[in-house]
Amino acid sequence: MWRSVIRQYSTRAARNKAAIDRIIRVDHAGELGADRIYAGQMAILGKTKVGPVIQHLWDQEKEHKAKFEELIPRYRVRPTVLIPLWNVAGYVLGAGTALLGREAAMACTVAVESVITDHYNSQLRQLIELGEAEHQELIDTIKKFRDDEMDHHDTGLAHDAEMAPAYTSLSAVIKAGCKAAVWMSERI
Ligand SMILES: [Fe+2]
Ligand SMILES: [Fe+2]
Repeated sequence: MWRSVIRQYSTRAARNKAAIDRIIRVDHAGELGADRIYAGQMAILGKTKVGPVIQHLWDQEKEHKAKFEELIPRYRVRPTVLIPLWNVAGYVLGAGTALLGREAAMACTVAVESVITDHYNSQLRQLIELGEAEHQELIDTIKKFRDDEMDHHDTGLAHDAEMAPAYTSLSAVIKAGCKAAVWMSERI
């Protein structure tokens, strides 16, 4: 009887650990990608009127990335093997949209940040299910970052994202790409 109780407990603990690993792995990858997107945008638009706006978003992403870089070793999580890919893809996405113009860069921001806000919200629901008290630090971190990402999204809208050429399709393509990146980073 005790053996089965212990087995049940350790299965639950293992499942819990796997869920937390996925959360930290994908968020670490996402924040690194976001850091690269804004680095790419800054390389093209840094000296224009929107430079300071993008710099502010970038600074917050650097904080987000630093936090997950701290959590990765602390929770003994293996980072995704896709880090080198997100490094390049993030920069190319940021610089590429910025080359299309300020509005396209902002459209990229709106698309990415809306996917990330939804993603953080669903992680928050999952963490609360796993045990709110047990995961308080992670919950507080993700809540704070979710609020920042919502601000980034609103900043993009306030800076004419919707005036970008082919806004609807540009936004759809970037959102699909982000969702695919999230799916892959959770798994490998
Ligand atoms: Fe972020
Ligand atoms: Fe963001």
